[in-house]
Amino acid sequence: MATEEITFRRHKHPGGKRGKGRAHTKGRQLVPTAVEEIAALLGDRPRSRDLLIEYLHLIQDRYNQISAAHLAALAEEMRIPMAEAYEVATFYAHFDVLREGEAPLPELTIRVCDSLTCEMMGAEALLSELSGHYGGKVRVVRAPCMGRCDVAPVAEVGHFHVTSATADTVKAAADSNHTHPEIPEYTDYDAYRAAGGYALLEECLAGKRTPEELIEIMSGSGLRGLGGAGFPTGTKWSIVRKEPKPRLMAVNADEGEPGTFKDKLYLETDPHRMLEGMLVAAWVVEAEAVYIYLRDEYPGIREVLLAEIAKVEAAGLDRATKIHLRRGAGAYICGEESAMIESIEGKRGLPRHRPPYVAQVGIFDRPTLVNNVETLFWVRDIVQKGADWFADQGKGESKGLRSYSVSGRVREPGVKLVPAGVTVRQLIEEYSGGMADGHTFKGYLPGGASGGILPASLGDLPLDFGKLEEHGCFVGSHAVVILSDQDHMGGVARNLMRFFEDESCGQCTPCRTGTEKSVKLMAADKWDEGLLTELGTCMGDASICGLGQAAANPLFSVLKHFREDVT
Ligand SMILES: Cc1cc2nc3c(=O)[nH]c(=O)nc-3n(C[C@H](O)[C@H](O)[C@H](O)COP(=O)(O)O)c2cc1C
Ligand code: SF4
Ligand code: FES
Repeated sequence: MATEEITFRRHKHPGGKRGKGRAHTKGRQLVPTAVEEIAALLGDRPRSRDLLIEYLHLIQDRYNQISAAHLAALAEEMRIPMAEAYEVATFYAHFDVLREGEAPLPELTIRVCDSLTCEMMGAEALLSELSGHYGGKVRVVRAPCMGRCDVAPVAEVGHFHVTSATADTVKAAADSNHTHPEIPEYTDYDAYRAAGGYALLEECLAGKRTPEELIEIMSGSGLRGLGGAGFPTGTKWSIVRKEPKPRLMAVNADEGEPGTFKDKLYLETDPHRMLEGMLVAAWVVEAEAVYIYLRDEYPGIREVLLAEIAKVEAAGLDRATKIHLRRGAGAYICGEESAMIESIEGKRGLPRHRPPYVAQVGIFDRPTLVNNVETLFWVRDIVQKGADWFADQGKGESKGLRSYSVSGRVREPGVKLVPAGVTVRQLIEEYSGGMADGHTFKGYLPGGASGGILPASLGDLPLDFGKLEEHGCFVGSHAVVILSDQDHMGGVARNLMRFFEDESCGQCTPCRTGTEKSVKLMAADKWDEGLLTELGTCMGDASICGLGQAAANPLFSVLKHFREDVT
């Protein structure tokens, strides 16, 4: 993995700090032992500002928390103000920053997912049973979706995820100190190569293919960005390629949208298919370096990627593009591409205003191609099997295959790789074994927490980009949560709003305040429709990024389709 610092010409921001700044950090006395510990922990790693989050992880992993003394020592070591280190560390849920004199945390943390599918499957009971049992010796905390909604409820003991969790199975893991991630069987480098893997990349690197040819194939396939926005992939590559060099790339492996777990499946079973797609895309746009931004909830995949990327490097396949693996730290907003770029630069994940778009001004202010894991996963097959092979697999007007993450009240939840444009009724009946016993289909989330909620009466709409918008919904990352007559829609929408409240970066008032006030108002049996509508409209109209803009979708859906549950 490339660790050397990359320096690029930076645009000066108006009002930005100029000059060299202080030689020493400001505002805190250094503790000599802490300074020594941090220097030893960092070893000869580069003291590069963008690696701040990586180094915060080193401290958190080693000491199980980040003490005030260690944070001050890190700031000193990296020559940044203490305030900057503090604001970054406290932005991310996976860093436990202690104030001076605060008691150390218990050695073990159990995180219980309380996002929608887990709540439906009993997360609240699990939380109260575990909290009652441990009484302070082990820390039991709430956490958002862990990307395992098909086996809900889920709890994470250290870094081990207990699926279909009960209090007993969680306690058994904790008591036996089973805290390391489990790594499932996967196609490793040798197996992938033996089956023809990396032949396409070799052809590209040897000049047997042209970037224009690949862009044309991608455009012809109809592949659209599968991170949620659905932007045509071929068009995006061609836009970035036209920007001035040096160019960079980022792979969005943050997968934080509640209900979504498809990227996880592809990364943990066939990681090289994504890595090859990534290196081919980077070759097309001539990106000098690529940053894979992996959510921290996938620690097993991180181990796999570290091992497998090393093999790719040993084979010299990174000769055109250096590969960096970056670790998220528990912030959903860092899936939003500009926030992700801020985080890759070692800062808080605050979405940027657009324009300029990240294709023009991205990582280190360089033109940057951002693609989702699954988008890149399809590249090799599309190029080798042809644009039509992919395009022809859709239903009706839809093109290609899609991976729908199906969870909730069905017999067989999981990732369903099926033709684009399938309906939810088909997903339930033909691909998910029908509704769970004792449940009658009432409604569904077509696109995770952000995509709104539709009633069963609209169960025959094609689940594709652009097809649900007239109903106030969208398919986004194709996370389909099935709801039944046993689910109270007011409660469902409140769970989603609470998620947005927790995950709002706080940068703009409509989103920060609107989500908080909405959660409070939505606790009532009868909703204040006028006030909630006003708040939701303001969030939609005046928020900076997609989180705030979409946060009121579920609330509006309930008022439109399930009024009897809340009025
Ligand atoms: C609040 C928010 C969260 C997002 N989370 C993710 C995510 O976890 N993974 C992802 O690939 N895209 C996510 N996106 C979409 C990205 O901003 C971006 O469109 C995508 O990574 C581009 O890649 P694609 O064109 O291959 O889809 C999110 C967008 C928003 C507004
Ligand atoms: S809409 Fe919300 S998440 Fe997005 S920038 Fe504003 S406060 Fe942050
Ligand atoms: S893992 Fe709990 S809702 Fe996704």
